[in-house]
Amino acid sequence: MSIILGIESSCDDTSAAIIQDNVLLSNIIASQKVHETYGGVVPELASRAHQQNIIPVVDQAIKQAGVEKSDISAIAFTRGPGLLGSLLVGTSFAKGLSTALNIPMIEVNHLQAHVLAHFIKQDKDDSNQPKFPFLCLLVSGGNSQIIHVKNWNNMEIIGQTIDDAAGEAFDKCAKMMGLPYPGGPVVDRLAKEGNPNTFVLNKPNIPGYNYSFSGLKTSFLYLLRDKLKENPNFIEENKADLCASLQATIVDVLMKKLSKAAKDLKIKEIAVAGGVSANSGLREAFVNYAQKYHWTIHIPSFAFTTDNAAMVAIVGYFKYLEKDFCPIDSVPFTRTEI
Ligand code: KG4
Repeated sequence: MSIILGIESSCDDTSAAIIQDNVLLSNIIASQKVHETYGGVVPELASRAHQQNIIPVVDQAIKQAGVEKSDISAIAFTRGPGLLGSLLVGTSFAKGLSTALNIPMIEVNHLQAHVLAHFIKQDKDDSNQPKFPFLCLLVSGGNSQIIHVKNWNNMEIIGQTIDDAAGEAFDKCAKMMGLPYPGGPVVDRLAKEGNPNTFVLNKPNIPGYNYSFSGLKTSFLYLLRDKLKENPNFIEENKADLCASLQATIVDVLMKKLSKAAKDLKIKEIAVAGGVSANSGLREAFVNYAQKYHWTIHIPSFAFTTDNAAMVAIVGYFKYLEKDFCPIDSVPFTRTEI
């Protein structure tokens, strides 16, 4: 039996989780509201907030799990990619606690953790885990990738964005409409009231499984600019239709490439992960594609779409089984592939 403490601090969420083998006992997330006023994450403020949050968050995770510090077998922490100042808080905390408790440390790649979040069991009888090999669409504020997952420790990125990520496209277009940050969830909410066929936006035409969202973003900007010349209230009067059209275009671009990859690789086990996987249009498209192409789909519960330590702890669990521990001089990295 193993009890793993997971720690996540790569961006603007401070999170700690306890997993007993692969069953989740607790997952505490402290989100940082301080960035909302700035329309994006301010790295220095993020690291300061992590410093304030990390001890209470870990303490709460341990208490809620009903375990003692002395029960913990190992500490898994996000080593990267992410913001350096943020990563340093979680990494240093993991070092301090593992030294104090004399237990091993396990370094975790944040992107791998998003993909493997599907293996977290909410209770012992939870048996809805993907079977290898599967494809995972990883869509967040910083990434849009199609990943061929051959095993928990063997993944290949077969497609990725060559410019903006899908979440970035949601957020930047939302900002153009004067919507608050992060714009993705707001666009999602407003899109429910709108007609997705009202406005035609630029769709990328690039070969292979790669994505591009910068052209779509520019075409959205030009649409607003031209329409605002005719009617200064254009955004206000068309907000729902603009959001619905934007969301439908992003979802369509994501799904077309994913289904092409699924067809070419003859894989019908398909998962989605990352912040944008909370999007209702994308979730609906997954269900529709699953019916049409006979996919078995894996959509994470909302708690595991954004950054969380449960996904770090599950990777920790897999690595713990292999005694894949890291040295005390492990340092964070800001950019990497899986
Ligand atoms: O994975 P994540 O929490 O972290 C980062 O990549 O930093 O993803 C955050 C992204 C943001 O761009 C946010 O707008 C987007 O996920 N997002 C959504 C929704 N919920 C979060 N985008 C569209 N629809 C949503 N419901």
